[in-house]
Amino acid sequence: MTRHTMLHEQMAKFYSGFRRDAHPMAIMVGVVGAMSAFYHDSTDIADPWQREVASIRMIAKMPTIAAMAYKYTIGQPFVYPRNDLDYASNFLHMCFSVPAETYEVNPILSRAMDRIFTLHADHEQNASTSTVRLAGSSGANPFACIAAGIACLWGPAHGGANQACLEMLKEIGSVDRIPEFIARAKDKNDPFRLMGFGHRVYKNFDPRAKVMKQSADEVLDLLGIEDNPVLQVAKELERQALEDPYFADKKLFPNVDFYSGIILEAMGFPTSMFTPIFALSRTVGWISQWKEMLAEPGHKIGRPRQLYTGETLRDYVDVENR
Ligand SMILES: CC(C)(COP(=O)(O)OP(=O)(O)OC[C@H]1O[C@@H](n2cnc3c(N)ncnc32)[C@H](O)[C@@H]1OP(=O)(O)O)[C@@H](O)C(=O)NCCC(=O)NCCS
Repeated sequence: MTRHTMLHEQMAKFYSGFRRDAHPMAIMVGVVGAMSAFYHDSTDIADPWQREVASIRMIAKMPTIAAMAYKYTIGQPFVYPRNDLDYASNFLHMCFSVPAETYEVNPILSRAMDRIFTLHADHEQNASTSTVRLAGSSGANPFACIAAGIACLWGPAHGGANQACLEMLKEIGSVDRIPEFIARAKDKNDPFRLMGFGHRVYKNFDPRAKVMKQSADEVLDLLGIEDNPVLQVAKELERQALEDPYFADKKLFPNVDFYSGIILEAMGFPTSMFTPIFALSRTVGWISQWKEMLAEPGHKIGRPRQLYTGETLRDYVDVENR
C-alpha cells in the first residue's frame, strides 16, 4: 500500500485540462475514471491477483489524487507523496506543504485525520456503495466502478452533509444568533433543521460522533478557536442544543458530520474538500465490497426491477388532434 502512492506522471497532465475553479469532486471523478486507461495490468477482474493489485492501487493513490485536486484548485504546485509518513500524515503533507517551506505534520492533526478516514471507511449499503457494486456487477473496469461511486457520493443528500453543516454555521454567523436558529429548528412550520444533528439509523447516539467529538476537542484545543467565528458558533450550538429538552426528547444528537466538518474547517480545509475527503475514506469500503462481490462464486449482474404504476390503457390520439 505504502509503495503505490505515486500516480503515473502523465496523469498529472489531466489536471490541467480542468478549469481552475472546478470542484475537486469533478476532478476526482475524471482522474479516477482515467486510471482505467493507465493500469491495464490490473483490470482482468477474473484474476484474483489483479483484483488485489487494483484494490491496493486504488486505496494507495486516492490521497494523492485528492490532494492534487486540492492543490490544483488553489494554484499551488503538486506535492509528491512521502512513503516514510503514515497514510493520514502523508495526506496532510500533500495538502499543506509547499516547496518554499518545511512542513511538519502535527501528530494530533494526523490522528484526527486518521479517525475521519477510519470512521468514514464503510457504512453498508449506502447509495454510493450500492452504485459501486452495481457497476462492478457487470464486470466493469475497477477504476471506472470507483469513479461511479465518487459521482454518487458527490450529491448533497449523501456526502455533502458535513458541508451543509458548515454552511449552516456560517449562516448563523455569531453566537448571539444561536437561540434564533434553535427556535427555527423547533418550529413545526419552519422547514429549517439543525444540520449535523439526528440520524436515520442511530437513534440513541451516533457511536462515530463520540469518537469524532473527542478529536474535535483535541484539534480545537491545539489550534484555538478564538479567531474563528464558525468554530465558536459550533461549540456553543452543540452546548445549547444538548441542553435543550426538544433535542433530548427526540434523541437528536450531533452526528459524525457535525464534528468532522468542524475538524476539517479547523485544519484549514475549504468546504469544497469535505466530500473529496469522504470519497478518499470511503474508497476502502467501496473496493472491499467490490472485491467481496467478485470473489463470490457465481455472482450475477445486478438488475433492480421496476414496477410500472402508470395507466394500463390509453387511447391513441392522432398527432394532428392533440
Ligand atoms: C438525519 C435525518 C434525515 C434523520 O431523519 P429521520 O430519521 O427521518 O427522522 P425524522 O425526520 O423522522 O425526525 C424525527 C423528529 O425529529 C425532528 N428532527 C430530526 N432531525 C432534526 C434536526 N436536525 N433539527 C431539528 N429537528 C429535527 C423532526 O422534525 C421530527 O420531529 P416530529 O417527530 O415532531 O415530526 C434528520 O435527523 C436530519 O435531517 N438531520 C439533519 C441533516 C444531517 O445532519 N444529515 C446527516 C446525517 S449523518
